[in-house]
Amino acid sequence: MKPLTRRHFIERATRLTGSGYSAMMALNLIPASPARTLSLQGNGNGKRVLILGAGMAGLAAAYELGKLDYECTVLEARNRPGGRIWTVRRGTRETELEGDEQTCRFDEGQYFNAGAMRIPHHHESVIRYCRELGVPLESFNNTNEGAYYYSDGGRGPLANKRIRQRELHSDMRGYTAELLAKAFDQSALDLPLSAEDKEKVIEYLVAEGSLDAGRRYKGTARRGYRVAPSAYDQPGTPAEAPALLHLIEAGYLSPHFSNVPEYTYEQQTTMLMVPGGTDRLTEGFVKKIGKKITYGAEVKEIKKTEGGATVTYLDKKSGATKALTADFCICTIPLPVLSGIANNFSSDVQRAVDLVPYNNTCKVGLQFKRRFWEEDDGIYGGISRTNLDITQVVYPCSGYLSAKGVLIGCYNYGSTAERLGNLSPAEREKLVLAQGSKIHPQYGQEFESSFSLAWQKIPYSQGGWAVYSPEARQRYYPAFLQPDGPVYFAGEHTSYLTAWIAGAFESAVRTVESIHERVQRGS
Ligand code: FAD
Ligand code: ALA
Repeated sequence: MKPLTRRHFIERATRLTGSGYSAMMALNLIPASPARTLSLQGNGNGKRVLILGAGMAGLAAAYELGKLDYECTVLEARNRPGGRIWTVRRGTRETELEGDEQTCRFDEGQYFNAGAMRIPHHHESVIRYCRELGVPLESFNNTNEGAYYYSDGGRGPLANKRIRQRELHSDMRGYTAELLAKAFDQSALDLPLSAEDKEKVIEYLVAEGSLDAGRRYKGTARRGYRVAPSAYDQPGTPAEAPALLHLIEAGYLSPHFSNVPEYTYEQQTTMLMVPGGTDRLTEGFVKKIGKKITYGAEVKEIKKTEGGATVTYLDKKSGATKALTADFCICTIPLPVLSGIANNFSSDVQRAVDLVPYNNTCKVGLQFKRRFWEEDDGIYGGISRTNLDITQVVYPCSGYLSAKGVLIGCYNYGSTAERLGNLSPAEREKLVLAQGSKIHPQYGQEFESSFSLAWQKIPYSQGGWAVYSPEARQRYYPAFLQPDGPVYFAGEHTSYLTAWIAGAFESAVRTVESIHERVQRGS
């Protein structure tokens, strides 16, 4: 037999899985995370850097440049740092672009993360900053087999009935394993496998799908019990599995019920979170570099000049227009906002700023008198999913057994988020409660107050995150990877880790390295 070279191994794995990625991971050819520790030598000698935006990218850039003795000023339009890291608590106020005003009326101590809430275990840049800044992390319960799937509007005996995620996962594993075992039995699959290999695959399928001796899926205790095992005379009676047809008819094979927490690399266990709210991460940076931030400074113009860059901003407190000059400028302003700011960027950059699309996304936090999802349904963290506009119900994974709680009653994207965002906050609340009641009939009795966000309508964000098509990645993305004269671009939208804090951090690190290298070169 030919020796198995690394190239062969990857080619084979690519043929089998459709992707060489996992094989390359196994061979350590792709790092689990692109994060690097910054250990730059030399000194910025007080070169001035203007950083536009105090989100994660801006804060990390200011923090790293500060270590190298650059003189940084961060201009932030809002009166708070953090950008899309935003923990909504009692007293949080927001006025959306079309004038809808809200003030959060949750009880003291109740909150939800309107932006980032979870951190993949392989986002090492985030973990590294948490470690460095003394920000604790704990588990974010992204996977909960006890949470629900609810398909609205299907047919058959399962129509409009919520089911536990473990039920659908077990049933579909069982039915697909049964179908595949049958195909193997009948040699219907044209695979170059010996009879012995086939037996091994069938053995695997029997275990994976929990098939019976006849290689049929007839249900399994994995999906839960009709009568639970007890300390008396009950050994436990597994619940019967529904027929495959009934799952199909009810709509449970639709992509709405894809097993996202298992199948998406970024969402696999273990996910992490910052206890007490993701804004504690922002606080970690602010403790280090808070004095460098000017709040209420809305950038109006960014100009490349002979000796560097000039940024003009509105000082919202005084109403005065002010200008600052610097040797370099790092712009982290989200593109939908940047697109409306006067500049003399190169045409490549301007095109990229104008044409990279952003996602719509809404989150609606709901405070309830009672944690009925824990008390009545045994749900501790995790996410229920539905084909209704609310899309997801995200349960808090802290404060278990406490009296009250805030869950995220809607977290949606794209056109559903656009629809929901076009409603007033009061209308959103009504819709989210009506739809959520189909999963949790307790909503009506237990609801207290809500706070909703349509990120596409939030000033200084105007969208959830950048969404690159392959064409946009090829055409526009490169413009952000190099400086436009003295102006550098950072932020999640200037990375391949869009929609993640790690993208903001990684891009900040890239930018700091690039500026420092230029300064050391003396050009
Ligand atoms: P921002 O945080 O947007 O920072 C840009 C800053 O620029 C803001 O502070 C803004 O106020 C400021 N600014 C804008 N205009 C001006 C102006 N004219 N003048 C001056 N300042 C200005 N990531 C995760 O890792 N995990 C998650 O669970 C997660 N969930 C998310 C859920 C939602 C709903 C959203 C919206 C995002 C989520 N993300 C998540 C993504 C993550 O929040 C972002 O990738 C990251 O916070 C972006 O940081 P940034 O610095 O690039 O941009
Ligand atoms: N990365 C974002 C999330 O985890 C979109 O929800």
